[in-house]
Amino acid sequence: MNGADYHLSLGPFQGITDAPFRNVFKRHFGGIDKFYTPFFTGIHKEDHAKNLQGEEIDPKCNDVETLTPQILSTDAEEILRFAKQCKQLGYKEINLNMGCPFPRVANKKRGCGLLPYPDMVETMLERIFEKIDIKFSVKCRLGYFNPEEIEVILPIFNKFPLSELIIHPRIGKQLYKGEADVERFKALIPYINAPLVYNGDIVSKESFERIRMEIQPVNQFMLGRGLLANPFLAEEIKDCRASLAMTKTDRLHNYVLDLYNDRLRHAGGSPKVLGRMKELWSYLMNSFEEPQVVWRKIKKTNTLKEYEDAVEYVFMNVLLSSEESNSKNSL
Ligand SMILES: Cc1cc2nc3c(=O)[nH]c(=O)nc-3n(C[C@H](O)[C@H](O)[C@H](O)COP(=O)(O)O)c2cc1C
Repeated sequence: MNGADYHLSLGPFQGITDAPFRNVFKRHFGGIDKFYTPFFTGIHKEDHAKNLQGEEIDPKCNDVETLTPQILSTDAEEILRFAKQCKQLGYKEINLNMGCPFPRVANKKRGCGLLPYPDMVETMLERIFEKIDIKFSVKCRLGYFNPEEIEVILPIFNKFPLSELIIHPRIGKQLYKGEADVERFKALIPYINAPLVYNGDIVSKESFERIRMEIQPVNQFMLGRGLLANPFLAEEIKDCRASLAMTKTDRLHNYVLDLYNDRLRHAGGSPKVLGRMKELWSYLMNSFEEPQVVWRKIKKTNTLKEYEDAVEYVFMNVLLSSEESNSKNSL
């Protein structure tokens, strides 16, 4: 199998991978075939719901062919409202978030908090599939409390024509700690009807290869924190460097400046953008030889000027981990 045979997507990150991020990322890096919006909630209106009016979902600012809008809900009617409006906007698929592990979500039986309740899942999916006329995919974990929960849920998923099932093999109670359980993911493969996507702990070409070998013949992978830490990751996996003319350092620098300036434009120059940039840097610092030096420099900035100076300092003084593979193997 060569790189072109892999299908790579970027997982959604609430607060990071919004439309400006996705568009800037695509201008600077290659290798990602598909994107997902961070989850939407509160689709109360039948038409033109307020939160479906912004640029996050506006087809003028997004590629409807390669972007799948995601919803966090357990209400079939709300999911259908979302599906209808996404379809009107030109999207081809929606995704249901059954993976969010945060207690304020999961305790309300939303996100992965729904996984211990197979009857609710079945009723919800029955109602959705009675009416939905757009592709419908699910992103989930192995469970909320324990990793056996998925074994009860899979036969239910199999009753419905999901366009895709993305599994992140952790349980909700782990949040993002510990390791993704690739063994368990592998054991599930024969029991899944839907096109299957693996997500979790792909942080380098090496970890990608290790996981890929383990879970053959799965050839769809969702990248997450590994790509935020090393935006070259998809290019490295596919051996398709988008620009040979520039060094990786210059490409990374341009990307960070472009994203910052874009966010600044959107925020009308407000220092609010610092929060979002810092959140990205909490991953991106791992591209550098001294991540903690980088993080301390960026984290303490309070004004736009301080931030801009810190970024220049980092690119002038701290080396990338490597010109060839610049992601640390751990997150
Ligand atoms: C801050 C943060 C926000 C996230 N937001 C979302 C989200 O909106 N929807 C979703 O499906 N997953 C979300 N995720 C999960 C990631 O998309 C991904 O599944 C997770 O990081 C595991 O993949 P990784 O081990 O490759 O990072 C989020 C994760 C983090 C850390």
